[in-house]
Amino acid sequence: MSKIPTTTLGANGPVVGVQGLGCMGMSEFYSDQFGDTGESESRATLERALELGVTLFDTADMYGFGRNEELVGPFVQAHRDEVVLATKFAIERREDDPAYRAVRNDAAYVRQAVDASLRRLGVDHIDLYYMHRRNPEVPLAESVGAMAELVAAGKVRHLGLSEVNGDELREAHAIHPITALQSEWSLFSRDVERSAVPAAAELGVAFVPYSPLGRGFLTGSFSNAGELAASDFRNYQPRFTGDNAAHNAALLAPVHKIAAERGATVGQVALAWVHQRAQVHHLSVVPIPGTRKRTRLEENTAATSLILTDAELATLEPIAAQVAGDRYADMSSISK
Ligand SMILES: NC(=O)c1ccc[n+]([C@@H]2O[C@H](COP(=O)([O-])OP(=O)(O)OC[C@H]3O[C@@H](n4cnc5c(N)ncnc54)[C@H](OP(=O)(O)O)[C@@H]3O)[C@@H](O)[C@H]2O)c1
Repeated sequence: MSKIPTTTLGANGPVVGVQGLGCMGMSEFYSDQFGDTGESESRATLERALELGVTLFDTADMYGFGRNEELVGPFVQAHRDEVVLATKFAIERREDDPAYRAVRNDAAYVRQAVDASLRRLGVDHIDLYYMHRRNPEVPLAESVGAMAELVAAGKVRHLGLSEVNGDELREAHAIHPITALQSEWSLFSRDVERSAVPAAAELGVAFVPYSPLGRGFLTGSFSNAGELAASDFRNYQPRFTGDNAAHNAALLAPVHKIAAERGATVGQVALAWVHQRAQVHHLSVVPIPGTRKRTRLEENTAATSLILTDAELATLEPIAAQVAGDRYADMSSISK
């Protein structure tokens, strides 16, 4: 299999493969649907990704209470110059109090969080450092100002934001250039097209769609979170449970049809749709589908060569507006 194409991550960012790899599920949130592959398969998936030209690897300090950074760290150390390492701060958690969550954007927290991430990752710099969620009580001048100091100190190369709106992106970008905005964007989740996407296109900020496979739902591999382990995070996401799940699974009929006609998988059609947002909205788009398995990684990277026709894109256009149920049970930390 040849390497995937590359793109520049926004106007001022590094060159990366057009598809990245989300590492979150390697440590938390999703149960293993098909046998317990464990961390050794995750490590093999990281290596295989790089062979296939995937260079943007996405983690966060809160995934698995730091364990995801510890898992990814040795891989990054072994390939430091080839890997574009992205991690995030802002969602404070406590392992001894699983219900506790706070969104911290204050400067003191930013400084403490980056040092903790660098320690867990075992590297001396982070290529792309995201603020994972916005706390509107902390001025962006303080949080992005503190992030800019990390760039000056050489701890961080580029800055990113997650789940902010277009106005917040503009304000942050005026404080320090923002390289990438990471938010949910998929056939099922298109809220970002209202304000974040136009602002990113205008400013030359790359878009990194997270959950481009709708947390696996858009592959057709499950049609109700009740099929997954009780501890699986998707049991807490309104769109994957009860009547919403049945309604939403039925919305995938045109995706199944296109997949059959094109000799592709349902997930590949969903990913191709996300990749093609780059042309539709005139910005660089680097989705980061997550998987712990080499076979699925190969399937996902192959989607970079599937180009949907205008007629196919038109068939998929009405889906998002019909999705029932929010992305999260609690949408309070998501900027409108
Ligand atoms: N900024 C944020 O707030 C935020 C929020 C969520 C996620 N993220 C980032 O975005 C990344 C991707 O999002 P995500 O992992 O939530 O969702 P996703 O990429 O839409 O889907 C991941 C799920 O789909 C399954 N999957 C992947 N490829 C598949 C295939 N070809 N066939 C069938 N199933 C497949 C995975 O299971 P297996 O692992 O078993 O293959 C996993 O359960 C995360 O890893 C994380 O780095 C960021």
